Amino acid sequence: MEIFRPRWMHTPSVREPATRWRCWMAAAAVAGLAAGCGGGGDDGDRQRALAAQGKQVFRFDTFGDEAFWTDKLKMNEVISQAVDPVTALSVGLKVDAEALPAAVVAGIQNGTVDLKSPATTVALLKLDAVVGVKGTVETVNGKDTLTRVGITCALCHSTVDNSFSAGIGKRLDGWPNVDLNPGAIIALSPALPAATKAIYNSWGKGKYDPRFNIDGKSKPVVIPPAYGLQDIHKITLTGDGTDIAYWNRYVAVTQMGGLGTFAEPRLNLSVTNGAVDLVTDKLPALQAYQLTLLPPAPPAGSFDAAAAARGKSVFEGKGRCATCHTGASFTDANATLHPTFDSVVEPEDPSYAARSATKQYRTSPLRGLWQHAPYFHDGSAATLEDVGQRYNTKRSLGLTAQEIADLAQYLKSL
Ligand code: HEC
Ligand code: HEC
Repeated sequence: MEIFRPRWMHTPSVREPATRWRCWMAAAAVAGLAAGCGGGGDDGDRQRALAAQGKQVFRFDTFGDEAFWTDKLKMNEVISQAVDPVTALSVGLKVDAEALPAAVVAGIQNGTVDLKSPATTVALLKLDAVVGVKGTVETVNGKDTLTRVGITCALCHSTVDNSFSAGIGKRLDGWPNVDLNPGAIIALSPALPAATKAIYNSWGKGKYDPRFNIDGKSKPVVIPPAYGLQDIHKITLTGDGTDIAYWNRYVAVTQMGGLGTFAEPRLNLSVTNGAVDLVTDKLPALQAYQLTLLPPAPPAGSFDAAAAARGKSVFEGKGRCATCHTGASFTDANATLHPTFDSVVEPEDPSYAARSATKQYRTSPLRGLWQHAPYFHDGSAATLEDVGQRYNTKRSLGLTAQEIADLAQYLKSL
């Protein structure tokens, strides 16, 4: 149970990420001056410069979590020995096609790049092309060697558009990676006992339990979008934080194993990793970037507009959905959180809300729903039709099959 606990980590070498961060700060300052915001320019420019830094953090910053993924879990060794690109894609890892030089693209197309060789994975890491995985590749005895590896926010909260091939394409930041199997990836570590590996392997794709290493309970939740959080001041499924930075700090320190501190008196939790703080400075930029991530519009032709219009009436009328799913983001989160029984998933054992700081649920925002099935925090509704059916049964709404179908079309249109 204690294995995925960052506070066990030794103090690592922090030289590399710290230096990189200072470079960005300097680069951003230069960009800011060029844009006229270094000396009292307008807020919009400053905000854009901050968001641009945050994008780099979101995609590429490990906060020094190599201390966990390399020193503790030895993932660099596993990857070098056993994770060829085909295996990596099979656990849901994505490749950023825009980071691939033309020669590599040609090699993949004509089969001369060996997708069954772990050395190819190391080569992709050297190119910074594996979304959410940051490797340090050095020459050892004349050979490219993966000496350090860590993870970034993009691992779980980015995917790609598959424009090159399945799992390889342009980055889509903020989109939850519904194919990713984080438990199976962690379970590859040779440092874990069999019983712990079995727990990680039980989670399945698109899910992760961000409290398992804290309270020892295992019941994963779906990886949610990191987009569409504009003007929502209750963050996480249970509304634990009043801003995104609260949870970013939680994940960076307690889950990714980044170096810094997270303290939450409501959970009697205080975690400090390492002797330096590689998290705090980056939180304003990271949050600024997340606030630029808008929910993706439904693809053209992906729903029936006439049915969606009828479904809107069900949503606002007989379905009573709009009593909680209010406003532009379809959530009453800023006004209230809900007792556990307001989630159609409850009662569940263990209750996810009971493990959180608030012990309540936030009404989920609904924009971009079409992109991230399955639904509800435990992923127990496979489709939006299932969502309507669940509410209909649990709340005895008396909806007809047609009304449930129309409601689903409306939800697909948001
Ligand atoms: C291993 C996968 C994983 C990684 C890595 C990860 N997250 Fe998450 N994230 C989750 C899961 C699972 C949740 C749902 C937890 C909850 O809401 O209780 C979540 C929730 C969130 C939320 C709340 C969304 C909402 O609707 O309120 C935000 C924001 C977020 N993550 C941002 C980040 C950022 C920024 C990073 C990097 C510092 C990060 N995450 C790293 C899995 C991950
Ligand atoms: C009493 C308040 C309330 C009402 C009424 C309500 N919801 Fe919800 N809704 C919630 C809460 C709370 C959650 C989070 C539940 C969870 O994940 O455990 C949620 C979650 C959802 C989700 C899952 C979103 C995701 O990202 O997985 C969908 C879809 C949804 N509701 C649609 C509806 C529809 C359709 C109706 C009407 C039939 C409705 N809701 C009525 C409070 C409500």
